[in-house]
Amino acid sequence: MAHTKLVKTLEGACLPRPPVWIMRQAGRYLPEYRKLRTQAKDFVGFCLNPEMAAEATMQPLRRFNLDAAILFADILLIPMAFGMNLRFVPGEGPKLDPVAPGDDLDPYRQAWSLDKLSNIGETVSRVRAELDPETALIGFAGSPWTVATYMVEGQGSRDKWNTRLWAWQNPESFDALLRLIEQATVEYLIMQVKAGAQVLKLFDSWADNLPPVLFERVIITPTRRIITALREQGITCPIIGFPRGCGGLIKSYAADTGCTAIGLDQSQSAQSVDQLLPKNFPVQGNLDNAVLCAGTDQLELEIERIIEDFSGRPHVFNLGHGITPLTPIAHMERLVKAVQGQ
Ligand code: CP3
Repeated sequence: MAHTKLVKTLEGACLPRPPVWIMRQAGRYLPEYRKLRTQAKDFVGFCLNPEMAAEATMQPLRRFNLDAAILFADILLIPMAFGMNLRFVPGEGPKLDPVAPGDDLDPYRQAWSLDKLSNIGETVSRVRAELDPETALIGFAGSPWTVATYMVEGQGSRDKWNTRLWAWQNPESFDALLRLIEQATVEYLIMQVKAGAQVLKLFDSWADNLPPVLFERVIITPTRRIITALREQGITCPIIGFPRGCGGLIKSYAADTGCTAIGLDQSQSAQSVDQLLPKNFPVQGNLDNAVLCAGTDQLELEIERIIEDFSGRPHVFNLGHGITPLTPIAHMERLVKAVQGQ
């Protein structure tokens, strides 16, 4: 298999122009995605349909000269496979019937079966067969903490109050919840690599606002356990960690989890990153998604600034968080051209 620009960079190369892909590059800002989406009854059914999910994965690659495809799926398919009643309410986002402290986790443990997600493996194989060998395929899962916040809050949550409360009130049962998610995640990621994923990403989208002791316990430790288990089971591919919003804690995250690279949100400056991460530690990021949506002259200036700022270390160009549904396609075209120096 050819070494893609993405893999080369994650393995430590500083290329003249960084490879580029965009978080949420498949999705609602694309009219062809919105059209395809109407063919499935609900979002979970769409994710579990290999033909539709493979097509959604490929759609941005047909329009833009991106260096990677990211599997079309969702971090909440793991709770779904625990038997949780996952719904996506239009305009409101995901909803689940929450798990509470004191609840018996055995029913979730017993409900779990990798077979429930075997269609995702099928999507990965289809995409890998269709993709240009120069284009990397990224597999992913949510990190245990972020997945746990959805399981405990029953939806997305800014302050993650019930989850933080549980983590402090009953560390043992909270750790059992994290371990349940970890074990499923390891099996799920191994399946993705066997099916053709060449890079893995762990999304910790709700890693913000935690005190360092809790960050260590609910983010670093479970992430390290996942990466250690993957390595023990022969998974050698690069693994990008994305502890969004954790500021200076990227230092211990990079040092202690075993991840290959860190996805940076837009609040991180190259100058502070240089003080926090070893010299050659690869990073990914970190254009503000609002600059991309705005599409003013600042777009090209910000892109060039970021490339320049990170030119001293291996760097994958991306946003600091996902592209938003109202972003004009022309702005994505400008971004890809600008990153590639055209
Ligand atoms: O292009 C890609 O990035 C691949 C596909 C992908 C989706 N979700 C598709 C999706 C990926 C990598 C995710 C990850 C994901 N899902 C995260 C972590 C990344 C992040 O952005 O922080 C999180 C927190 C989720 C949970 C989730 N799924 C939420 C909060 C929502 C609702 C968002 C919204 O704006 O409605 C989803 C639904 C979802 N996942 C959509 C897509 C394209 C939109 C639903 C639809 O098209 O009907």
